[in-house]
Amino acid sequence: MTAATIHRTVDPDAVAAIMREVALAEILPRFRSLESHEISQKSHPGDLVTAADVAAEKALAERLRALLPGSVVVGEETAHADPAVLDKLQEDAPVWVLDPVDGTRNFAHGVARFAVMVALVRGGDTVAGWILDPVADSLYVAECGAGSWCDGRRIRVCEPAPLRRLTGATGYAHAKLFKPMGIRTRQTGSAAHDYMQASDGRIGFALFRRRLNPWDHAAGALIHAEAGGYARLFDGRSYRPGDTAGDHIILAPDEEVWREIREIIAPHVAAHAKRR
Ligand code: IPD
Ligand code: CA
Ligand code: CA
Repeated sequence: MTAATIHRTVDPDAVAAIMREVALAEILPRFRSLESHEISQKSHPGDLVTAADVAAEKALAERLRALLPGSVVVGEETAHADPAVLDKLQEDAPVWVLDPVDGTRNFAHGVARFAVMVALVRGGDTVAGWILDPVADSLYVAECGAGSWCDGRRIRVCEPAPLRRLTGATGYAHAKLFKPMGIRTRQTGSAAHDYMQASDGRIGFALFRRRLNPWDHAAGALIHAEAGGYARLFDGRSYRPGDTAGDHIILAPDEEVWREIREIIAPHVAAHAKRR
């Protein structure tokens, strides 16, 4: 789908306005003032949900559905309660994929590194993606074929360089693989922040593993691709929001750097596969 087609179905600024309004009404007032009963654990102690996640997802879902009649919603918290919600990604209707608060653990601990992510998926492909950092009030947006933008300014991934000169975002397990080689990595606790930083060149690469939830990756993967980045799953396929099985996504400024990263993590991936 071309950018022009998307413009005919949804106004990207209207989506951004909804995200800002929902963040102002449901997320920011709860930041650093959550009561303990407003935070609960999902699958493990680090996997949290707060009153802000639930209220923001509800408000985003209602308003985005109204913005695009006939559309359906796949939201993180709704899918947690009913995993069958993910089947909507296979339907013909346009799908809004929502991560109401990405970086919930940071949010719940008062760390200002979280974001709202929205993607519009049609026919199994992401056609537009938005990431809002409500604290910095900065918005990253991309439409398929129309480039990536941050607050009205075109963004690009960093210039390709030897891996040892780049900084990356990884989880703690992968950080251990890069450290002995003198390659710096950061752990932000927010996939949204990793995607924003890799897309505007503040970092050179990023690595995501485990179950690939569409709300964690759909918007960011498009923003990174439209910013000129090279991203593939570990097996070399392009990422699509329906790819939810456990795997890795590697973001790099170009294919050469991507191959270098893949080589470094390959033994770790093989050892993990054997243990499963
Ligand atoms: C999580 C964050 C975290 C990533 C996890 C995600 P949430 O999202 O993006 O950085 O490592 O895989 O689930 O739960 O805070 O929306
Ligand atoms: Ca998330
Ligand atoms: Ca979330």
